[in-house]
Amino acid sequence: MVSELDGMHLKLEGLRKSFGTKPVLQGIDLDIKPGEFVAIVGRSGCGKSTLLRLIAGLDTPSSGSIFLNGKQSYGRINPTIRMMFQDPRLLPWQKVLANVELGLLGSKVFVRQNALQVLRAVGLEDRANDWPAVLSGGQRQRVALARALVNKPSLLLLDEPLGALDALTRIEMQELIEGLWQKQQFTSLLITHDVEEAVVLADRVILIEAGQITMNISVPLSRPRAKGDPMFIQTVEQILQRVMGRQENFNEAREARLLV
Ligand SMILES: Nc1ncnc2c1ncn2[C@@H]1O[C@H](COP(=O)(O)OP(=O)(O)O)[C@@H](O)[C@H]1O
Ligand SMILES: [Mg+2]
Repeated sequence: MVSELDGMHLKLEGLRKSFGTKPVLQGIDLDIKPGEFVAIVGRSGCGKSTLLRLIAGLDTPSSGSIFLNGKQSYGRINPTIRMMFQDPRLLPWQKVLANVELGLLGSKVFVRQNALQVLRAVGLEDRANDWPAVLSGGQRQRVALARALVNKPSLLLLDEPLGALDALTRIEMQELIEGLWQKQQFTSLLITHDVEEAVVLADRVILIEAGQITMNISVPLSRPRAKGDPMFIQTVEQILQRVMGRQENFNEAREARLLV
């Protein structure tokens, strides 16, 4: 039996991506351990989604390399990598269970059993025969999470999956993702614009600016993390200052240029 507990080792070397003449990623080096949870923050348009798309094999780098468990990836879709987006992307004409089954190949019985099991894990077993349209936004994201996890991926890519949810649902989803990650030990790469969310979930937080990694810090807090804890607040502050400080410099530089 294939172990459920193998996170992927992900290594990026000198990764670059341009669209036409526009450079977006300008040399990304990153080494993510099996089972590690890494969060990526950065201004809108800095290339976060592009980076995840390259790792997922949905697009190819202009140069540089991606190594998945030590093997160079050549931009093909890898079934052990799954991705979740802000929009749950469920098929509206398929019921919840069928939407989850889409993530899995195998015999009918195997697929059904696994889909029900993962729906139970996200707390939605009783909604298996509902249409996506009758679910709340948070429930739809749970279905998307179930679909992403049903084939036991070794790398989960999360592109602002909680961005559209209300605060309480967000917290519930964070707890759910953390719990499933701890249990299944897949490697996680989460893009978020919420620094608190990054510090709640990640072992390491990375900042991308101008197509490069300009901050890479470990989060030295035990789990589960309490937002009221002074060390938690301090870590969030430290990252925020770094993110905002850069932006102020950028604005000053821009203003200075306008004044010339
Ligand atoms: N397929 C594409 N064709 C042309 N430009 C693109 C494409 N995808 C992304 N870009 C551009 O690359 C930059 C980074 O985009 P993206 O990775 O989506 O940023 P982020 O996720 O950090 O907000 C943006 O300027 C965007 O317009
Ligand atoms: Mg994006």
